[in-house]
Amino acid sequence: MEKNRAQWGTRVGFLLAAMGSAIGLGNIWRFPATAYESGGGAFIVPYLFALLTAGIPLLIMEYTLGHKYRGSAPKTYGRVGKGFEWIGWWQVAISFVISTYYAVIIAWAIMYAFYSFNLAWGDNPTNFFVGDFLNLVDPGQFGGLIPVVLLPLLVVWLVTLGFISRGVKKGIEVANKIFIPTLVVLFLIIVIRAVTLEGAADGLAAFFTPEWGSIMDGQVWVAAYGQIFFSLSIAFAIMITYSSYLPKKSDIANNAFITGFANSSFEILAGIGVFSALGFMAFQFDTTVVQLAEEKGVGGIGLAFMVFPEIISQIPGIPGFFGFLFFASLVLAGLSSLISITETYVAGVSEKFNISRGKSVIFGGGLAAVISLAYATQGGLSLLDTVDHFINSYGVALSGLVEVVAIAWFAKGLKGLQDHSNTFSDIRLGGWWRICLGVITPVVLGFMMIQNITTELSAAYEGYPVAFLIGFGAVVAVGAIVVGFLFSLKKWPNKDDLDVPATAIEEDKEAE
Ligand code: ALA
Repeated sequence: MEKNRAQWGTRVGFLLAAMGSAIGLGNIWRFPATAYESGGGAFIVPYLFALLTAGIPLLIMEYTLGHKYRGSAPKTYGRVGKGFEWIGWWQVAISFVISTYYAVIIAWAIMYAFYSFNLAWGDNPTNFFVGDFLNLVDPGQFGGLIPVVLLPLLVVWLVTLGFISRGVKKGIEVANKIFIPTLVVLFLIIVIRAVTLEGAADGLAAFFTPEWGSIMDGQVWVAAYGQIFFSLSIAFAIMITYSSYLPKKSDIANNAFITGFANSSFEILAGIGVFSALGFMAFQFDTTVVQLAEEKGVGGIGLAFMVFPEIISQIPGIPGFFGFLFFASLVLAGLSSLISITETYVAGVSEKFNISRGKSVIFGGGLAAVISLAYATQGGLSLLDTVDHFINSYGVALSGLVEVVAIAWFAKGLKGLQDHSNTFSDIRLGGWWRICLGVITPVVLGFMMIQNITTELSAAYEGYPVAFLIGFGAVVAVGAIVVGFLFSLKKWPNKDDLDVPATAIEEDKEAE
């Protein structure tokens, strides 16, 4: 079976797919806001610390796991040790949940790319977004389906599932070879335009000026780790799945460094673009970026779909074109990530239930598409916000903690993985790598969990009704764990499915 495993066509193909996964909505709408709210220039300290001690070491670990054990995430964890398979399914379930709302944000961006041409949002983009476009109802209610979201959502799923059903090399690799270079070109045009706008320098100053006091704030560290995990697609089951398609001769550590630095470079570029644009907006309204950020909120969905349209309308020349480029970038970055998120469950289900990729796409992808309709309703925005908050705090971050503890402490697997990576990589991992994963990361993530839970219990998230938060936030996060356990109870189709591949055993001997 392993001999027939799908493989990437080229190294560049793998790298583009991994970067495509990493560079996503998180880079464009999450990073600039998180950085700004967490001390601007000073955020670079916790950010780099999280990147170097957790992000890249975990990426190396996930690449090594996939490369060595050659399976989807559940199979890989199952091969690492008895009783670990559920962690793989848990992470697959987390990805499943994320895919259901991630697709909807891309659908909005598609509509906004078209709206850009005639600046359809008019004089008040905020009212347009929550009123004309989403027709919002109160949190906790669903209302009806929104046709203008439904149609692009269908397109998002058709494109995503279409590429995935064509397989790793002919589908996923091809998609990323088209999407990522195009994205880089579009985004560079936007950033160059943004930094040449009047007032851009003030925006950049606001972004980069360090608030050193914020380094002592635990929340800032929580934000940095959360950002790195989401942005690098770590603990999503993605990087294990993608690296399981690597050929034997692959420079694992180098690939991880390239992916990590490409992702962060894009993130900083996005920060520069967004804050230059905010500087321009402040200049137009004769205010400061600090005040603007306070009034408008620069974060997440608000930044992309309320503040940006306002900026776009003010841009001299051809604002519609600039708007189109911005939203098209969101679409491309989003699609390449959504493909990777969806591939985790397509691969897992196909292996465990012994069904073809096509069938797995129909069952897994089809179910995700149906569930995503819930966010295409008038109540979809608060649902999305709630699920995103809970699945990140108690899905991605928590499963990342369980992942390192399971591999480092319970399986005592770090030394073996280090040897495996060193056999194939130019950059040799030393004791620092084991200290990062075995000590620093679990301690910081453990602290982060305590912080998250304390904050959660002290006030209802965003002031939403508590029953709503429990029903759609906590239940979904806990549900992912339960689903993880349940799927791991089912027997594998072949009795040798959880055997460590013979090649990995030989390689280990060579390493000794
Ligand atoms: N890594 C992806 C993103 O940043 C999920 O959006």
